[in-house]
Amino acid sequence: MTSGDKAAAADVQSGTAGEDAGTGQAVVAAWNALGPLMDLVTPMALRVAATLRLADFMPDDGAGEGAAIGDLAERAGADPDALARMLRHLVQHGVFTEKGPGQFAVNETAALLRTGQPAALWLDLDGFGGRMDLAFTGLAHTVRTGEPAWEQVFGQPFWAYLDANPAISASFDATMAVDAGNAAVADGYDWTTVRHVADIGGGTGTLIAEVLRRNPHLRGTLADLPETAGRARQYLAGLGLDGRCEIIGQSFFSPLPPGADAYLLSRVIHDWDDAAATAILRRCAEAAGSTGRVLVIESTAAAGDPAAFAEMNLRMLVLAGGRERTIDDYSALAADAGLQVTVVHDITERHVIIECVPI
Ligand SMILES: C[S@@+](CC[C@H](N)C(=O)[O-])C[C@H]1O[C@@H](n2cnc3c(N)ncnc32)[C@H](O)[C@@H]1O
Repeated sequence: MTSGDKAAAADVQSGTAGEDAGTGQAVVAAWNALGPLMDLVTPMALRVAATLRLADFMPDDGAGEGAAIGDLAERAGADPDALARMLRHLVQHGVFTEKGPGQFAVNETAALLRTGQPAALWLDLDGFGGRMDLAFTGLAHTVRTGEPAWEQVFGQPFWAYLDANPAISASFDATMAVDAGNAAVADGYDWTTVRHVADIGGGTGTLIAEVLRRNPHLRGTLADLPETAGRARQYLAGLGLDGRCEIIGQSFFSPLPPGADAYLLSRVIHDWDDAAATAILRRCAEAAGSTGRVLVIESTAAAGDPAAFAEMNLRMLVLAGGRERTIDDYSALAADAGLQVTVVHDITERHVIIECVPI
């Protein structure tokens, strides 16, 4: 909706067309707030620009001429007219510049879409980030039924879909490995009383690598599904940490290797509903025995970013039927799994480590 449309709509809505300036301004302000939230054109255009890697094929804005639309279309495998229309829309929103007719360049905002940038990964419609966005086309189904939209949109539940689509699974793992706040977790806990740490659902190993690197006295175990465990094996070997970390490809719904002093569950529990989350915690509690502890790393409602919490709470439901939780919620789950929360460590503005021991 253009600003002219919004003003006209505001006049109609207010029924005053300027006679009651106060009401009219309030409606315009309301439209100004709602309009940008309604738009699906720009978010989709951004995603297509990232998916086609357009920013990779253009020079920087300051560097002479832009890239000609014909060349761009050829390199991106796109229709020149359609591509130009989409780019001109993005230019109007401050992404890319048009230096001369049909000559496009990358400004600072568009540079964030270049390959290797986190935004390029998140926005790629052929990767996990894009699938996650498209799952939201099923949001009405989720809201009506309380069920994850993923299965309705893609025909299989989330984890089964990843298992059946290795490229999306690899993209999911890569996305999880980006900016996971691992350094803050590794620094945010006193590891001196731990000798053996197990990272359950540990992904490709980026967290346990940080923990092991900073604490040479520690040895580790990482457990994740076989495909992901394979990627963790490669990653840890690349860092020379494979000698200090055993990697196990298994489900965390099966009995876990016993005997570690600390079992980490980082961003795992929020993927699951209460019954599954309790089952995972119970497996950790069994493996921890009477002397181990379980460290749950999550964001919570109290952790200082209510907007991020609300968004993630919805995402978890739409994707896999999971949920974000409060400390009280985690305490209740822990109790059902035979654990009690002893300390909550605030590690970043958004994340906490919830330390649990057997009851
Ligand atoms: C949201 S990711 C978090 C990864 C990592 N802990 C982190 O903080 O970046 C959830 C992890 O749970 C793993 N996972 C999902 N289902 C699993 C299962 N049944 N058994 C073991 N791991 C599983 C996924 O492969 C993924 O690595």
